[in-house]
Amino acid sequence: MPTYDVTKSTEWNMENGPLFEGDIPIRSSFRKRARLWDFELNSPLGVPAGPLFNSDFIKLYADLGFDVLVYKTVRSVARKAHPNPNIVFVDPGAGITKDRLGSDIVVGKEPSDLSKITITNSFGMNSLGAEDWQKDFDLAQSYMGDGQLLMMSVTSTPGESGRDMKEDFVYTAALAKDAGAKVVELNFSCPNVKAGGEGSIYTDPDFSAEIVAAVKKELGATPVVIKVGYYKDLADLDAVAAAVAPFVDGISAINTITMLVRNGDGSQALPGEGRLGSGLCGAALKPYALETVGRLAELKRTMKYDYEIFGVGGVVRPEDFDDLLEAGATVAMTGTGAMWNPMLALQWNEAV
Ligand SMILES: Cc1cc2nc3c(=O)[nH]c(=O)nc-3n(C[C@H](O)[C@H](O)[C@H](O)COP(=O)(O)O)c2cc1C
Repeated sequence: MPTYDVTKSTEWNMENGPLFEGDIPIRSSFRKRARLWDFELNSPLGVPAGPLFNSDFIKLYADLGFDVLVYKTVRSVARKAHPNPNIVFVDPGAGITKDRLGSDIVVGKEPSDLSKITITNSFGMNSLGAEDWQKDFDLAQSYMGDGQLLMMSVTSTPGESGRDMKEDFVYTAALAKDAGAKVVELNFSCPNVKAGGEGSIYTDPDFSAEIVAAVKKELGATPVVIKVGYYKDLADLDAVAAAVAPFVDGISAINTITMLVRNGDGSQALPGEGRLGSGLCGAALKPYALETVGRLAELKRTMKYDYEIFGVGGVVRPEDFDDLLEAGATVAMTGTGAMWNPMLALQWNEAV
């Protein structure tokens, strides 16, 4: 049973979640410790922005041996989630080849084999108001044990906030730092937003660099990470990496990949305007995450960039973490996998 009830609203899940029964085992040994900037970590495993909806979710996953936890992306202004459903299973068939990216995908059933789990999620980057998430972040921080790190993911809400895109990124990142965030991640790549362009920044090298430079200037020594999506053409990733490298401390890759999600009869699966396109996550994402992490690592070596790499996408079995680490990630993260199997980090810790 997942920790989030996909049949219920986000509000219900934030109020009643996470759903988890059973004992929380104590880790008596640590398979592999890690270092990220000045932070000593119990392991190089984490949960990316998204599945940790509030401090209650963060507490559970920290207790279950995930050592780098990212608080779900927040805004400077409150925003409601898209109407339910926010998560549906999709049928990736034998996998989603590169030429199918961005095209139709049909809803599917929950697979009996968790290693095949592929979903689409569409929340619209809902957020509590700033005062509320600052308070909740503080509580989440109090749940961190030794060797654990809590990060904050933020996005910009141009217009509605009264600021432009760059200004509101800077403003929201500063709010996150005020709340006690030791690392701030800028979400440049959420596909589930209808207006405002928050999702596509990662495809624009100059604008990405301009925003990171401004945030870095504001935050000083606090590490700043950007979350990017998948680049079909790796030359585009090269250009972004070159532009942001002088300013950024870390790159998290990858976010979900937008697909057109339909019912079997061809109709739109998720209700509401602008929701035909929705982000694919889970098992089918793994080759694309590996490809991106591999290239970021190669660029680090050849171009002498010194960002840290957060590998995200398609980790649904313990050994998937290792694949991302071997490809060059400092931290390997699981979103969908951790929702359906919250024991994944402990299973990795025990597997030698
Ligand atoms: C329920 C859910 C909510 C998500 N929300 C966010 C978000 O708020 N910000 C963000 O940067 N990514 C978000 N993501 C994307 C994940 O961080 C991750 O990039 C993506 O799911 C791929 O990893 P996975 O295959 O392990 O799920 C979300 C993913 C899921 C499953």
